[in-house]
Amino acid sequence: MLSRLLIRRLAARHHASLSLLDIRLRHTQEQQRDDRSQHKQRIMATLIGAWTGVALWLQYNNRTDASSSSTEDIDEEKYGAYHSGLPEYTLDDVSKHATIEDRIWVAYRHGVYDITDLIPKHPGGDKILMGAGGSVEPFWSLYAVHQSAHVLDWFETFRIGNLSSDDVGASVKDMNDPYGNEPRRHVALKPSSKKPFNAEPPLRLLVDNLITPNDLFYVRNHLPVPEIDEASYELEICDELTNKEKAFTLKDIKKYPKHTITATIQCAGNRRSEMTKVKPVKGLSWGQAAIGNATWSGARLCDVLKDMGIEDGKTDALHVQFEGLDTDPASMPYGSSIPVEKALDPHGDVILAYEMNGEPIPRDHGYPLRVIVPGVVGARNVKWLGRIVLSENESDAHWQQNDYKGFSPNVDWDTVDFKKSPAIQELPVISAICEPAEGQKVKVKDGKIKVTGYAWSGGGRKIIRVDISSDGGRNWQAANILESDEARHPRAWGWTIWKTEVPVCESESEVQLCVKAIDSQYNTQPENFENIWNLRGVLANAYHRVNVKLGK
Ligand code: MTE
Repeated sequence: MLSRLLIRRLAARHHASLSLLDIRLRHTQEQQRDDRSQHKQRIMATLIGAWTGVALWLQYNNRTDASSSSTEDIDEEKYGAYHSGLPEYTLDDVSKHATIEDRIWVAYRHGVYDITDLIPKHPGGDKILMGAGGSVEPFWSLYAVHQSAHVLDWFETFRIGNLSSDDVGASVKDMNDPYGNEPRRHVALKPSSKKPFNAEPPLRLLVDNLITPNDLFYVRNHLPVPEIDEASYELEICDELTNKEKAFTLKDIKKYPKHTITATIQCAGNRRSEMTKVKPVKGLSWGQAAIGNATWSGARLCDVLKDMGIEDGKTDALHVQFEGLDTDPASMPYGSSIPVEKALDPHGDVILAYEMNGEPIPRDHGYPLRVIVPGVVGARNVKWLGRIVLSENESDAHWQQNDYKGFSPNVDWDTVDFKKSPAIQELPVISAICEPAEGQKVKVKDGKIKVTGYAWSGGGRKIIRVDISSDGGRNWQAANILESDEARHPRAWGWTIWKTEVPVCESESEVQLCVKAIDSQYNTQPENFENIWNLRGVLANAYHRVNVKLGK
């Protein structure tokens, strides 16, 4: 049996050989002269190559889970349907358009599309080139976010023809569902996408307890959940500057002193659905519950690295990169990185966590090992951790380079340059009203109504005050109950649950509640979304406003 480490290395080589450049190079003029049957074989070979990596790693099987197997129903009459009057092309014709010079064509169901002008605006970056000159269907079965009306409406604007009936469906025939072995999820989690699985709990449940139960913790997955055998699991750590390399089993990690912290993890897109009301943004439409607070236990990363001789002041590395064991069709793992200072600081509390709220980390949250980088955006808290690299460079993964960055409101998909913005690390202060809900009828008692919610700030900053208004922000009062763990600034990684009663004008039938929090550096939240709007809808931390009806 090949060890995990060896398989990883082979897969890494495999993924190097399947780089986007290579995929583009595959479509050379020589290949374009291939006859039709050779072309079909090539498509299958590409798919088999790509999918072997995934299958090898994730050992997908055909088991399905009722809670995760369905996708959004799409209107098959409308999207990718046969359109009379359009020219017909074969997959072979499509394959002749696999480079920018030849213009990039792809096929989807019965349709052929020229996506050359879509590429710079694609939220998934140049990953779309993996499908260049072929069908996008195998990729979309992995990135099922594409199976939604707003994406497909946009995609249809690039339609140029019909795919010949012989070639329709050829690329996905006999393909196993990469999401066929997902964990069972709690029915209370409301998915914003099922494949990959992304879901948040009902907002009002968040404030019932300072600690969010594992089953109700929001889930943000970019790829299928890998199936990992604890017995053969290994974490590889390497230092690119010294070429030191070491593999750790879970048992090895558990030998280090067990360190427990309480930390909030928040997705950069939390509250995106409010920002998108100003002007549409691209991304999952998260409400206010893409955030949760848990205790995390594991080995401190600085202790493990110290054992390898990597210590603060003794390394030239600038970044610590993390790779997950979840991979895309080209065997590229999810990846991300943090500055080395955070990783090596014993007060930074970065841990290789194997427990969440006292239990082995659930599969959706990174079983068997995930890095917890407290105070830092969720995207850097890599799950299913397979590899750590000390490097002079940031991770070159899509999620570090071309996503999870902020931009000025005037930057749109025509002008965006992801190289110009730094990757988000520590998150700004945020808060939300969890109860009452928008439009709810609330009981007024002694001229007041009960309001409750959460507040949190990144970078270990503690919430020192939460202000509530019941007249749209003209008058404010501080919440009288603030509940949090004991940790102090600058190691206050967990959130604050706040509760209060606010006076309301009883002659009104409806009022607008709003909340803003203040952290231990006296940072507070922006008043509205207009001034912080950005095309990816991240860092959505304007005042949270909730309109309620008053009742007796
Ligand atoms: N790690 C891996 N390996 N794969 C992922 O898709 N998603 C990231 C991060 N770590 C992700 C990952 C993002 S964007 C977020 S917000 C958090 O995990 C979500 O963590 P959770 O699902 O445990 O809530």
